[in-house]
Amino acid sequence: MAIIIDGKAVSAATREAIKNEVAELKEKGVTPGLAVIIVGDDPASRVYVNNKKKACAELGMLSEEYALPAETTNEELLGLINELNGRKDINGILCQLPLPRHLDEKAVINAIAPEKDVDAFHPVNVGGIMTGDYSFLPCTPAGVMQMLKHYDIQTAGKHCVVIGRSNIVGKPMAMLMLHANATVTICHSRTVNLAEECKRADILIAAVGKPKFVTPDMVKEGAVVIDVGMDRDENGKLCGDVDFDAVEPICGAISPVPGGVGPMTISMLMRNTLTAAKLQNNL
Ligand code: GUN
Repeated sequence: MAIIIDGKAVSAATREAIKNEVAELKEKGVTPGLAVIIVGDDPASRVYVNNKKKACAELGMLSEEYALPAETTNEELLGLINELNGRKDINGILCQLPLPRHLDEKAVINAIAPEKDVDAFHPVNVGGIMTGDYSFLPCTPAGVMQMLKHYDIQTAGKHCVVIGRSNIVGKPMAMLMLHANATVTICHSRTVNLAEECKRADILIAAVGKPKFVTPDMVKEGAVVIDVGMDRDENGKLCGDVDFDAVEPICGAISPVPGGVGPMTISMLMRNTLTAAKLQNNL
């Protein structure tokens, strides 16, 4: 029987620690503030943004929502970001992705002041992740690292295979595992012998975006399997990138969907907002 990595429990413990640190910061006269921008009416984005605001309230942080119409222009959006960059009471700025197609996502990411970029998407912060010199880590990979740490799962000298090479998850995930002294392989849609590559993993991290993509023939006996997927199965039910029921019996530990990596992501965003508030106030 595999250990089930309980993201909800790790997230709750993380949020408790953050809440205490926020309270301490408030005693020094600083309330961490997060501005969340959402453009248009994508239902999934709406759910994510609501959850982010709720987490801020729970932890005693300030949050401001900017819900802009789908017709918003690049100039208007960049103007808002510029204004938020200059606000002392806003420590973190997050623009929910994806944006409507006519908007320039790259320009938006580049416009957020790196010290307020709590997503860690700005090239300055991405560069910091490469060199190991960073203030913020991207939320999802940071959440995975926190889960591994909580369960005392060793990474040094282990073979880690990451499936997926996105800028938001796959690439930074691989880099964090490298910093944690794992030997890392990144697999993707053009990888030859994918199952064979995956089967060599002591730690297998799936960030593909395809429901139940990882099957038992891809998993080594006793491996740790982390599922970053947030997919829908053939019945429209939420599931991950890993065929959980089939893979669970052969692995040593596995994170489920829901209740695995998902809850960690927002906790890491809260951690980044707290860090931003501290750094901006020299605390
Ligand atoms: N859309 C999906 N995930 C994310 C995220 O982590 N940050 C932002 N800004 N948008 C997202």
